[in-house]
Amino acid sequence: KKIVLLSVMAVMAFASSAFAEKKELVNGIDANYPPFAYIEKNDQATGFDIDAMNWIADKMGFKVVHKPMDWDGIVPSLMAKKIDMVASGMSITDERKEKVNFSNPYYTIKKYFVVKNNSKLTPDDIRSGKKKLGVQAGTNEAKWLEENAKANNWNYELRLYSSPGLAIEDVVNGRIDAAAIDSPPAEDAIKRTKKPIKIIGEFTNSDQFGVAVRKEDKELLETINKGYELLMEDPYWVTLHKKYFNA
Ligand code: ARG
Repeated sequence: KKIVLLSVMAVMAFASSAFAEKKELVNGIDANYPPFAYIEKNDQATGFDIDAMNWIADKMGFKVVHKPMDWDGIVPSLMAKKIDMVASGMSITDERKEKVNFSNPYYTIKKYFVVKNNSKLTPDDIRSGKKKLGVQAGTNEAKWLEENAKANNWNYELRLYSSPGLAIEDVVNGRIDAAAIDSPPAEDAIKRTKKPIKIIGEFTNSDQFGVAVRKEDKELLETINKGYELLMEDPYWVTLHKKYFNA
């Protein structure tokens, strides 16, 4: 009962706000990041983030459309009001928090080194053996790998990619020795698309995904937090995990 009441209050607060007058909110997505957001055969964007935000929009009484764009420019697009939120596998980082606000975390990921499945490389080989290491541009892992290489005298040669999938492809065809990838796209490549790669270890701590909104959009943030709270208590949360993570 309490939940119902709270959600009614949230919907009322939402309905009176400026953004409710907008017909629909735009969620900027990187559609090359399975299983959180990716394009399926029919050209439709799909994924955990998309289903989750559609459910929340429905519950909380707003409309949302998902707009595929380059990951590298996604925070600038949010700040320039080309989009209203980023619910698309975005790690909550202190650096991003200076520019945007994040919802409460909704998913925890790990950071993996992956290599071809017949490779004998170890994480130490990658850090100190002059290896070619692929990583997605504009990610917190790319930044971490650059900064920590300097600090620790690691000598991998970073190659920047526009998506984790392209880095994985180059691991498979041998153009690079390894890739540094978030656990969701790494596990998806192994389980769903059956790429001949393997995970050989974590290269840094896990981090958490949150939905990013502009700092001034306080009510939107509350609405999203409330929506996620309701979703996490709903059987659909389990359904989503089964559908996208086989869990
Ligand atoms: N976790 C990394 C970050 O937030 C990778 C993000 C890539 N996510 C995506 N949807 N393309 O920087």
